[in-house]
Amino acid sequence: MELRVFGERREAELALAREIAELVRLRRDEGRGAVLGLATGRTPVGVYAELVRMHREEGLDFARVVTFNLDEFEGVSADAPGSFRRFMHEHLFAHVNLAPECVHLLRSDLTGAAAAAHCEEYEAAIRDAGGIDLQVLGVGLNGHVGFNEPGSPRDSRTRRVELHPVTRRSYSDGLGEEAPTHALSMGIATILEARRLRVLALGAHKADIVAELLRGEPRAEVPASLLHGHPDVRLLTDPEAATASSPTP
Ligand code: PGA
Repeated sequence: MELRVFGERREAELALAREIAELVRLRRDEGRGAVLGLATGRTPVGVYAELVRMHREEGLDFARVVTFNLDEFEGVSADAPGSFRRFMHEHLFAHVNLAPECVHLLRSDLTGAAAAAHCEEYEAAIRDAGGIDLQVLGVGLNGHVGFNEPGSPRDSRTRRVELHPVTRRSYSDGLGEEAPTHALSMGIATILEARRLRVLALGAHKADIVAELLRGEPRAEVPASLLHGHPDVRLLTDPEAATASSPTP
């Protein structure tokens, strides 16, 4: 896993937004749309804001771009404050020219066999799109990526998952006592199939998990560590998140 420590948070956000923009332009020049894997949470907000700015001020064209989001809570309605569908709409989708049929989000309203079938369809849709070119990832305080909580196997696929107490607590601001117990999430194997993985970990509260992530062997207790060994995985941090790690030039 390649570590990049930027001078400040903003630089990491801009670097990732620029990489995404370059990919979008490259694919457009090749006559197709880039396929982006997107994440929610506080971490990528600045990346999406920069993409919106580039769309408005520089004409960055999302017309053929295809997106797949990593995860969604179960039972949270689309307009609830904690809904990832709502988050994506507010931070990106409403402000750029993505075609609605090219946007893919896991549904929050399914359980049981219907949820399982939906997860299989999601995997098929990713394959049909030609696979994900670049997957944006945050990392949870417990090392989760997407909602692959500690213990998630490396060969996991898109599925229904039970949320870890640390995860439920970190989302309780938006959802309070209503914080859901389950979610649908792309699996670790699904994520590993993306051609580029870009993990953003920003702020002092991520220092411990970043150190943990860089320290050891891949293990299911720290799901993000299972991304080690991917041929193109990069961890983008700021000095606060990287305090316990050794910076690279
Ligand atoms: P955050 O969440 O971006 O809000 O820190 C990251 C995550 O839990 O994956």
